[in-house]
Amino acid sequence: MSERTVVAQALSQALSDYLSMDEILNLLENPKTAQHGDVAFPVFSLAKVMRKAPQAIAAEIVETIPTDDFDEVQVVGPYINFFLNKRKVSHETLAKVLTENNEYGQGTIEGNKQVPIDMSSPNIAKPMSMGHLRSTVIGNALANIMAKVGYEPIRINHLGDWGTQFGKLMVGYFKWGSEEAVKAAPIQELLRLYVKFHEEAENDPSLEDEGRTWFKKLEDGDAEAEKLWTWFREESLKEFQDVYDLLGITFDSLNGEAFYNDKMQPVIDALQEKNLLTTSQGAEIVDLEKYDLNPALIRKSDGATLYMTRDLAAAFYRKDTYDFAQALYVVGNEQSGHFKQMKAVLTELGFDWADDIHHIPFGLITKDGKKLSTRKGKIVLLVEVLNEAMSLAQAQIEAKNPDLANKEEVAHQVGVGAVVFHDLKNDRLNNFDFNLEEVVRFEGETGPYVQYTHARCASILRKADWSANLAESDSLSDADSWEVIKLIQAFPNTVVRASEKYEPSIIAKHAIQLAQAFNKYYAHVKILEENEEKNARLALVHAVKVVLKEDLRLLGLEAPEEM
Ligand code: ARG
Repeated sequence: MSERTVVAQALSQALSDYLSMDEILNLLENPKTAQHGDVAFPVFSLAKVMRKAPQAIAAEIVETIPTDDFDEVQVVGPYINFFLNKRKVSHETLAKVLTENNEYGQGTIEGNKQVPIDMSSPNIAKPMSMGHLRSTVIGNALANIMAKVGYEPIRINHLGDWGTQFGKLMVGYFKWGSEEAVKAAPIQELLRLYVKFHEEAENDPSLEDEGRTWFKKLEDGDAEAEKLWTWFREESLKEFQDVYDLLGITFDSLNGEAFYNDKMQPVIDALQEKNLLTTSQGAEIVDLEKYDLNPALIRKSDGATLYMTRDLAAAFYRKDTYDFAQALYVVGNEQSGHFKQMKAVLTELGFDWADDIHHIPFGLITKDGKKLSTRKGKIVLLVEVLNEAMSLAQAQIEAKNPDLANKEEVAHQVGVGAVVFHDLKNDRLNNFDFNLEEVVRFEGETGPYVQYTHARCASILRKADWSANLAESDSLSDADSWEVIKLIQAFPNTVVRASEKYEPSIIAKHAIQLAQAFNKYYAHVKILEENEEKNARLALVHAVKVVLKEDLRLLGLEAPEEM
């Protein structure tokens, strides 16, 4: 039970004539300093309804408070300050984590549980950008968080594997490319051909027509076009896979834009049936003026469908296939107009499930405050960033723990984990600056710091040879352990909050706070000292270890036992 619930229940007897349980909960505050207790109730909010002076009301209420739930209940000015019974709460919390272990905080959801999560979704034949990296790690963390509260996430990589650019690419390949060059460095070479195509097309507009012809061939199922498309796609996927392997992220579906190629007619039919399609300069559009949005482009004048059409088909497909409770789209902020349009079109079609679709936008990664250039070969950069993070981590481990057995593996877990944690620790909509040295530091608010604290817990438990038991009398009451206990107790609610706000940073912040509170405890208290509280202290170390590991797992990080 959360600390606020304990207090609200204690208050409910005295206040039942005036306030509901929810109203009481809403009024409760967490005092800024520990000296004012764990939870405070502002009495002045009652002065009007009870027609008495706050002091008198407070005195009256305090009379009815059950004493064994609290170490102390103080009236200070117009507040009642509650100090929870530390021994009781610490025992209950430690016992709960000890029995539930990594299931601690696991929730359940009634009814529809499936939540397709559109994530990563890089474009074939183009480098995977830092934006795609963000979509990948945020999407993965959200999937873990949704699963923890009881949903069934479905990780979908909606690959950008269709569109007019494939026609251009084929023309470029015939004119300036070769099989060997593509095989040697697929994405770099395909990008070169694409860029060259645009340069040449400036002087020779007939190239554009050739490009359109080849895309038309592809859409019509021409064997040669299809063969090239399949090959380009596979080569690109191989390179993307390197990044996914480093991150340890897998997908349930790789249905990208091409998958919806033969699934768009139902969208067009539905739009026509509802009379929503109008023609504008030869193209077919859905007018969205009443939503204050630009019109949605459904079909070009030459009959070709668009990004939007494929996304509408994907939405139909996902609703049909998963009957989802919610559908999430983890895509950069710059596409928020697109997703507003998509939801508006679905609403116009009369689908109330449009409200269950949520675009989860995020900000940019910058370098020295500036947007990263989109022209350079980013896939190289991305793998390079991860590799460099791993070598920095390896150097730190070499210095701190040269005898560590599986140094390479730990360096991977720490290096990649550092990059992921850095991405997730800020509110997802914030832009943030990327500075590798800072990311991989073992101190400060970093992934390695949390992992290191977890490993410290593991090491204490190894040293103590702890037998994972808790006696009825085992409990703690000192101020340092109390800060730790409160954070452990807050974990289940923290996960729920993160799932409601689609905000992994809430978990990252919890992990940092818990690690900091524990390290303070560790500095002040001799954990292994032989006395009657030793077993409770070890149970606390165990609980911290379990919860830190869960925090890290939810974010997509490993938690090495030693580092
Ligand atoms: N491939 C797109 C891009 O890189 C992102 C796709 C996002 N998902 C979607 N269903 N539209 O911009």
